[in-house]
Amino acid sequence: MDNKPILFLDSGIGGLPYCRHFYGQNSAEALIYVADRENFPYGPRERGELAGALIRLFEKLIPRFNPKIAAVVCNTATISALAKLRDHFSGLPFVGTVPAIKPAVLESRKRHIGVLGTGRTIEDPYTAELAARYGPDCTLFGLAAPELVEFVEYRLGRSSPEERRRMVEPYIRTLRDRGADALVLGCTHFLFLLAEFTQAAAPDIRVYDSVEGVSRRIEALLDRGNLRAALPKGGSGASLSPGPERCLILTGNREPDEDMVRWAAFYGLILRPFAGWDE
Ligand code: DGL
Repeated sequence: MDNKPILFLDSGIGGLPYCRHFYGQNSAEALIYVADRENFPYGPRERGELAGALIRLFEKLIPRFNPKIAAVVCNTATISALAKLRDHFSGLPFVGTVPAIKPAVLESRKRHIGVLGTGRTIEDPYTAELAARYGPDCTLFGLAAPELVEFVEYRLGRSSPEERRRMVEPYIRTLRDRGADALVLGCTHFLFLLAEFTQAAAPDIRVYDSVEGVSRRIEALLDRGNLRAALPKGGSGASLSPGPERCLILTGNREPDEDMVRWAAFYGLILRPFAGWDE
């Protein structure tokens, strides 16, 4: 048993659906969600630069929050830096997030698959390696969508359904033109547009994401290391006992904007300042 928190990290709000999926099924776990707005967006950065920034960030996060597992709920950060983070912080188990190419390859009939992600994810040889490993007979094409990342991070909360539909439709048109029957959401931010993507893609294109897979991987680490949090004590007062702490932390010294305050509330997280950011 281990009551320490699990740390989730993304450049912004992108990993929140991953975090919620996990705690929806693991209600005893405490968690810290870190939105690294200080370094947002990750997508345009070089691999080495991003890896360096993330190592520096984890040097602050680990002593401050003492997590038992770190889940990097960001494809760009995973592809660019996970191996380095694991080397550098060898005592801490890390879970990464990569595009769900494997299930798409297993199910695609047309053998044409589109992956939507940040520039870094699409250009990185790692994505091509995943494709070659799981679907050597598939034609896989990547579409970089940095404007979609910005839209989700800064405008989604105030957008209309029509605006959201307009944001996703050009990508679906491109996939159809290229004969694809599968779309892999290779950026966690795009989960916020899952309903729009799924609707625009039906009935001929199936949409894949990695939410379930990431949760399962964290659960496997909890079980393997006997790291699950103790359930609150039973008895008549059990329902009144406070749940585990679930916080959202913003990097840097900026004040959270109104949208961030709303996202934290929507996901049931307490927005806390990052005390000691400058130390
Ligand atoms: N959410 C991130 C991902 O999954 C990256 C967004 C960004 O900061 O560019 O790749």
